[in-house]
Amino acid sequence: MPMIASSMMMVLLLHLPHAPLSGARPPPAGAAPLSPRTDPDPSRPRAAQLSPESVARRARPILAQHAAERCPSCGERVSQKKMRRHQAFCCPDLLDPAGWHAADRATVLEYVRRTYARHSLEARLMRLRFTPAAGGEAPSQRALGARLALSPRKVRDTIASVLHSIPPPAEPHAPLEVLYEDAHLLAVNKPAGVPVTPPHRLRTGSLLNRVIAHVGPAAPLPAPVHRLDLNTSGVLLLAKTGAAAARVMAQFEERRVQKTYAAVCAGVPPAAHTVVRAAICADGEATGCRRRACAAGEAGGLAASTGLWVVGARRGEGGGGGGSVAQLKQRCRERGLKVGGRKADLIERLGGALGLAEASLLLAAPEQGRTHQVRIHCAEAGAPLLGDDLYGRLQPDVIQRHALHALTLLITHPFDGKELELLAPLPEDMRRAIESLHLKPTELSSTNHCGSGPGWEHLHRLVGASIAGG
Ligand SMILES: *[C@@H]1O[C@H](CO)[C@@H](O)[C@H](O)[C@H]1NC(C)=O
Repeated sequence: MPMIASSMMMVLLLHLPHAPLSGARPPPAGAAPLSPRTDPDPSRPRAAQLSPESVARRARPILAQHAAERCPSCGERVSQKKMRRHQAFCCPDLLDPAGWHAADRATVLEYVRRTYARHSLEARLMRLRFTPAAGGEAPSQRALGARLALSPRKVRDTIASVLHSIPPPAEPHAPLEVLYEDAHLLAVNKPAGVPVTPPHRLRTGSLLNRVIAHVGPAAPLPAPVHRLDLNTSGVLLLAKTGAAAARVMAQFEERRVQKTYAAVCAGVPPAAHTVVRAAICADGEATGCRRRACAAGEAGGLAASTGLWVVGARRGEGGGGGGSVAQLKQRCRERGLKVGGRKADLIERLGGALGLAEASLLLAAPEQGRTHQVRIHCAEAGAPLLGDDLYGRLQPDVIQRHALHALTLLITHPFDGKELELLAPLPEDMRRAIESLHLKPTELSSTNHCGSGPGWEHLHRLVGASIAGG
């Protein structure tokens, strides 16, 4: 298995039946119990020279890192940090019991009935583990081991390998827009609101289930090589083979992939081209996946920068864009709006009475692709995304989800070495939002002197073409 980020590992664990499981193996049984750390470096100050307080300060993070719990099913000691990953391998049904329904157990049992001889070890173990008990509690793997005189590890590995061999279901009747396909890669246009992967491998409802239907049940399962938020639309790239996945993921890790998003925002960044440099910090436990720009001097953030280009904007004056009464009237006429009234009325009308004094259409090129990076950086630049319930401005009369679309992905083809630009046209809801905001296109000449991303001028033209009127 290629070296990949641990979050991506989770996706592969749950959804890649053909990937070797070696990389997914949980840590060895009986992980070392906590023992005081002995420091082999004699140049360091000895503990005796440190105050008890500073020793305690140093020890706390180490203790937290190594804190281990017992897996509820196999009973192995696993560090807290690795528990989710361990359970995804060992007992996915216990990882998120609310996400596993009776129907999922039935699916497992039906697969086992079709696949294994009735008295095989696999069939007996799976029946014992997944037949609903009267009390509702699944018997732990320790309990099963005791009952069948097997080691808990043997029980765990057998159950895990059966679970991971169940083919994930295809969804043949759901639409799939293919943007590019060859023997190694598949790029699709993800609609907003459809998740990339299902909550677990027995479920449908995700883009991956549509992709499985597209490539056919006999083909290896394509692996998504990057992520897109649930409510973001646009280019999603999948690798069809392990070799292609490894090469493309290496390009992502080495930041040799260029991603450009289109975003519709409330407000306008201060310049036609802006680079936002703001590290991204976690925002507390309670809010889950929410992030924020780090405060000045705050430690622990992830460095991030995003280039922003203004493609279209409406500034101040309620969106009239300024100008003489004659010019305003002309603009009203062009848009089929009423022409009568005072200057203020014209401006009000041109503003679309949306309550948005300023709005813009941006191209955003994140250098890193951190969680929520574009959403946070647009807000940092004074142009929060419309429809973004975490960092932006809700404006349901304009758009019903955060107005963010992965427009292009520029990669080097992993085998022929050619530049490959994958492009997903703007979706209907963003086109409508752009139209209703009456944005004025930004002159290309005013921004191209500081353009740095290859090919961004033609994106500017392409996206600019979607601005109604002009
Ligand atoms: C997706 O959009 C819907 C509608 O705006 C919102 O309620 C939901 O919280 C969003 N989900 C995520 C994960 O962003």
